[in-house]
Order: sequence, then structure tokens, then C-alpha cells
Amino acid sequence: MKKLIAGNWKMNGSLSANESLLAEIKAGLVNVSTPCDVAVCVPGVYLSQVQSLLGGTSIAWGAQDVSAHEKGAYTGETSGAMLREFGCRYALVGHSERRQYHGETDLVVAAKAQRALAFGVTPVVCVGETLAERESGDTMLVVKRQLAAVIHAVGHCVSEVVVAYEPVWAIGTGRTATPEQAQEVHAVLRAQLVAACTRGSGPRILYGGSMNAANAAELLAQPDIDGGLIGGAALKAADFIAIISAASVAR
Ligand code: PGA
Repeated sequence: MKKLIAGNWKMNGSLSANESLLAEIKAGLVNVSTPCDVAVCVPGVYLSQVQSLLGGTSIAWGAQDVSAHEKGAYTGETSGAMLREFGCRYALVGHSERRQYHGETDLVVAAKAQRALAFGVTPVVCVGETLAERESGDTMLVVKRQLAAVIHAVGHCVSEVVVAYEPVWAIGTGRTATPEQAQEVHAVLRAQLVAACTRGSGPRILYGGSMNAANAAELLAQPDIDGGLIGGAALKAADFIAIISAASVAR
């Protein structure tokens, strides 16, 4: 399976910074032979800019959230139909920062995944345990519960989602899960997804949490790590390209 490297810009960027970052990424990609799949998930206000800069290239783009509702009186929200109109292939759903700072529950996350799929946008469903949950031995329980809510909502369509395992304690901390720690969780998620899918090996499972140019190859060599969701390192073209190169070799 071709790997997927998706950048999560979070609340970073400006019209000029985005333009130079994407120009550098496009230039860097030319030197990567048979690159993996690549995407950037950007703040909503920049979707139009990114659509015009990336349209016709092999780089896909996406949003960082999507509304659980179809349309109407939901001030501040963006619908799946709107994302589709701006060419989004992906929408992050249930990122730990959304769960933590915006009170998104498993049910809300599942509804968002369902809504994205309904509009032809692939949800990148983020799951992951906090440090306290890992230390109390609840990692598998937590990630399986988070994923089960999505499987329950979308049924056999789960084969169309992307899952991202992002241990909360590894996000933006510089503290990466070891390849063994990540693989252990990915294998559990894989088994859960395969059991829910009617055919195939199921969706891609990305690892996220301080993945960088130095540790990407080792993480991506794990049998159940199908790509990466990259925060900080996605804002530096050279680092992002280095991760893409590592993922393009590791098949
Ligand atoms: P990080 O963020 O790579 O900066 O740890 C990953 C994410 O939050 O998606």
C-alpha cells in the first residue's frame, strides 16, 4: 500500500508564508522518485489559496475539522459540502486538540466522520491516549473505544477513512513513541479495522506525534504504519520533504 504523509499546519501560516512553503515543497517533490501520497491540512481560510496553488499537482489538501451538521444555524462551522467545493480530499476529525480544547466526544467525532464521508471528503480520524491513560495501562482500551464509535457510525464505509494514531503525550512535545510502541497500537487498530471491513486490508493507519526527518524512516518501516500525520515538521519544507522521501522508500 502506498504510504500517505499528511501535514497538519494547525493554526499557522499566512498568505505569503503558505505560498513560499508550498513552492518549496513542490520544488522538493520533483526530486523524489515515485513519491508516496502527500497532503496538507490547512486552516479553513486558506483553502481557496491552497486550492489554486496545488490544483493540478499531485499534492492533495484538506481541512482540520468539519461540522457534524449538514447546514444551517451553526455559527463558525464549515460543512462537508463547503470543503468539497474547495477541492478538499481530506478533513482531520477528532484531533486531540479538538477533543481537549473543544470538548469533542467520541460521538461527535463519529458524526463528523460520517458527515465528511457523505460529502466525498475522506476523514482522517485521530485517536490516541493521554500520558495518564498510558501510565495506567489503558492505551488499548482508549484507542479501541475511540475507533469503535466511528466504526459504529459509518459501518462498512470504514474502509474509506484514514486513521491516525496520535499519542497525546507525543504531540508537539518532541517525545515520539518508539517504533515498537507505535507498532503495538497500530496492530491492535489494524485488527479492529480488518474485523469491521468487508473486504481488503482496511484503511491506512498513520502515526502522528513528533514525527520528524530523523525518526520517520524507523517509524515508517513498521509493518502497520502506513504513513504519518505531521505537525511541526510540516511547516519546514526541507523536513517535510525528508519525511516524504522516507515514506516513498518504505513501501
Ligand atoms: P507534531 O503534531 O508532529 O507537531 O507532534 C502532530 C499532530 O498534532 O498532528
